[in-house]
Parts: sequence; structure tokens; C-alpha cells
Amino acid sequence: MYKVGIITSSDKGSQGLREDKGGPAIKKIIEDFGAPFEVADMVILPDEKDQLADMMKKMADEDSIDLIISTGGTGFSKRDVTPEATLSVIERRTPGISEAMRMISFKVTMRAMLSRAESGIRGDSLIINLPGSPKAIEEILVEILPSLVHGLDILQGNASECARH
Ligand code: MTE
Repeated sequence: MYKVGIITSSDKGSQGLREDKGGPAIKKIIEDFGAPFEVADMVILPDEKDQLADMMKKMADEDSIDLIISTGGTGFSKRDVTPEATLSVIERRTPGISEAMRMISFKVTMRAMLSRAESGIRGDSLIINLPGSPKAIEEILVEILPSLVHGLDILQGNASECARH
């Protein structure tokens, strides 16, 4: 099984001033997808780069979380810093995942260009940024999950070759 950690980046959500809809939306999609994923942790943090980066590091290094999915904080607001937090902790970028996410989103809205979402690898963990809206999460996550399984298999040495389907 691959452990999934969910991080919601939201000033209002972290203060209890707004209901977090992004985190639960990710949790439901992961649970509906089922094996090999299981939700191990779900947290809400303010849009603070250091707090987000520290949580990503803790999940990857101490909690052995395989897939860390963030939601929110990828846009143009001055407080949106999730991509910067992600870039500060990843060791290798995974631009194909970020490109795929935007490609999927462009089918729905030209505003896909406004998400600065990043993704990358830290040790044995994969970190990906999703936008904040549950609608965007649903549009993107369902489509990319099967390929993420294969990526994690290769990253962690559970698959030696890319069998063609
Ligand atoms: N991607 C999809 N699939 N669907 C959407 O509705 N909204 C866009 C974009 N990506 C959207 C999307 C919009 S309007 C914004 S501003 C950015 O994601 C950033 O969102 P965030 O600030 O919540 O992270």
C-alpha cells in the first residue's frame, strides 16, 4: 500500500473561518480509488511557506508517506506560496506531472494557466500540488492517479520496467 498525506493550504481554513472542502475531496477520491492507496494523514495549514515545507518534509522523511498531495495556494494571490514551499523541499522536479495536470485543466478552463502547481520527488516520496477548488481536484486527480501508481512503483523499485498497455 502507498500512504497518502493531504495538506490543505488555506489561511481561513486553518483558522476555522472557512470549511475545508479540498482536503475531504482528495480523501474521498483516494478512498474511492482504493488499493494501492490509503489516506494516512490530513492537515490544514495557513499559507505560510515554512510551515508548508516543514510539513512536507515531516510527511516524507519521518512518516514515510509515499504520496503527498497539497490543495490550494497555487494561484496568484500574494499569500499563495504552496509551489514555493514544494520547490524548497523537492530534490527532483517531475514536470511531466505538472504539465499533465495543466493539460487536463485546459480542457475545462483557460484559467488553468493561473495555477502555478509544481510537483517533485523527495527521497521515496512524490509531492504534487493541486488547486484549491474541489471541482478542480475532481477533474485532475481521478485522471492522474493510475500513472502516479506506476511512478511510485518505479521510484521505490517495485516495478523494473514500463510494460506497455
Ligand atoms: N483546474 C481545473 N481543472 N479546474 C478549475 O476550475 N481553476 C483555475 C486553476 N486550475 C481550475 C483549475 C483557477 S481559476 C485558479 S485561480 C488556479 O487553478 C489556482 O487555484 P488555487 O489558488 O486554488 O490553487
